[in-house]
Parts: sequence; C-alpha cells; structure tokens
Amino acid sequence: MIGSNDSLNERPIGIFDSGIGGLTVFKEIRMVLPHEHLIYLGDTARVPYGTKSPEVIRKYSEINMRFLLARGVKVVVVACNTASAAAIDHLKEQFSDIAVLGVITPVVSSLATLDRVRKIGIIGTATTIRSGAYQRCIRETMTVEVLAQPCPLFVPLVEEGLLDHPLTRQAIAHYLGDLKKAEIDTLILGCTHYPLLAGPLDDYFEHRVRIMDSAYHVARELKRMLTAAGSANSSEKTGSEQFFVTDSVESFRRTGELFLERPLTDIEHV
Ligand code: DGL
Repeated sequence: MIGSNDSLNERPIGIFDSGIGGLTVFKEIRMVLPHEHLIYLGDTARVPYGTKSPEVIRKYSEINMRFLLARGVKVVVVACNTASAAAIDHLKEQFSDIAVLGVITPVVSSLATLDRVRKIGIIGTATTIRSGAYQRCIRETMTVEVLAQPCPLFVPLVEEGLLDHPLTRQAIAHYLGDLKKAEIDTLILGCTHYPLLAGPLDDYFEHRVRIMDSAYHVARELKRMLTAAGSANSSEKTGSEQFFVTDSVESFRRTGELFLERPLTDIEHV
C-alpha cells in the first residue's frame, strides 16, 4: 500500500504490460520520477491481450500482479489499455492492500480540464473498445460526443517497426476514415503502442486534431499519488531499472530500444 515510511519509499514501482507497448508509459515515468526504482514486466509470451477475452486478461493480469508484488513493489501501474479496460476493477478488489493505477482514468481526467473538447475519437485494441471502458469513463466525466474505433493492425505494425511506412498509412486510412469524416477534435490513443504512430496519425488528420497519449498523464498522476501519500523516493541518485519478459529477451531488447530510444540492459526471462 502507498504510505509514508523510509524503507517503503525506497521500494520499486512495478509496471506491467502485455509486452513492449508499456515502455511508452515506462519512459514517461522515468522522466517524471528519475529517482524511483522501476521494475517492468512484459508478458511477451502471451501478447497480444487485445484480441483475448476479458476473463483471460483478468487471469493474466493477476499473475503479473503477483510477480511484481513478490518483488516488493510499492505501487503497480497497469501500463496496458487492454488490461486496464478489462481488469482494473478486478485487480483493485483482489489486491486491495496495494495501490493500482491504470491508464484510462488519468487521460480522461486531463481531458475534462481542457477547452473546446466536443467530439472525441478513441482508438484501441478490439477488447479495449468492446469493453466500453473509455466510453463509460468519458461519459461519467463530461458531456461530449464519443466515437470509438478498434485498430487491430496497429499493434503488429508497430511491433514490426513499420512506423513511417506506406502499409501503416494505409491501415490508418482504412480504420480512421469515419473519425475524419465526423470531424473529431480530439483523438485518444487508447493503446500503449500507438504513441509511436503519433506522427502519421497527426499527418492523417492534417494537424487539426488534438492527440492525447495516456503515458504523459499516467506518469503525472503517479507522481501526484506518491507525493500525496509521502511515499516518493527521496534519494538524489538515479533509480535502478529492471526488465522482465516471459518470452525472448533479444526481441524485447530490439523493439524496446525503438520505444525507449536508448540501449536496454538488465532484461531477464521469467
Ligand atoms: N499494450 C496493449 C494495450 O495498450 C496492446 C497490445 C496487446 O494487444 O496486447 O492495449
């Protein structure tokens, strides 16, 4: 549980995703909280979560939580939209003695503070969109029009490193034609892989749409939570980083370096 005391404050922050996408959240957390120790778990053996049922995702998410708890984390960030959409309430209930932060609420809360938000497009995996989690969260927070669109090809395109590629531009046009026609003013990237496509998405909408990426907002909400609870690490030293993956270390390293834009060390297979 988050709470103030010296040894607790030095405990690491746990972050999990179905694979590599959560590194976009990891990167922001590292930027905003440079002195925290971070443990990242990528469930690469079971990725993608985005095509699986909520029941299966809840089961995998529970296993990920137990793994991180066994490493003494003080808080867990569910750095996966699909797991946040399908499992966050379940995880909060099952692990009530630890703070669990998902990626949906922080971005929606930030959106609610902005002017001129009238028509929001949400894109994500099939399971995220089907769950209705974003749609519910937005409707509970503000009165706007919401259009949701699953984009199942985006994750494999990003995993292949095809970020600025004709195939990716074709997929964007294929999925997002209706949102463009509807003249949305805001687009929520409801998948942790999608920030890597922010450039081509911005081009597609001719730079007229506000693109919201959950990573930035999650990292700031995490900092706010730790500060409010007095449980931030007060050390002046740079925090350590450990990465765990359930499949190949080498392929995680290769694509991970694309996400983090720096070399990745200390990756262990579990
Ligand atoms: N990282 C996942 C998300 O944010 C997408 C990848 C997957 O389908 O597992 O939804």
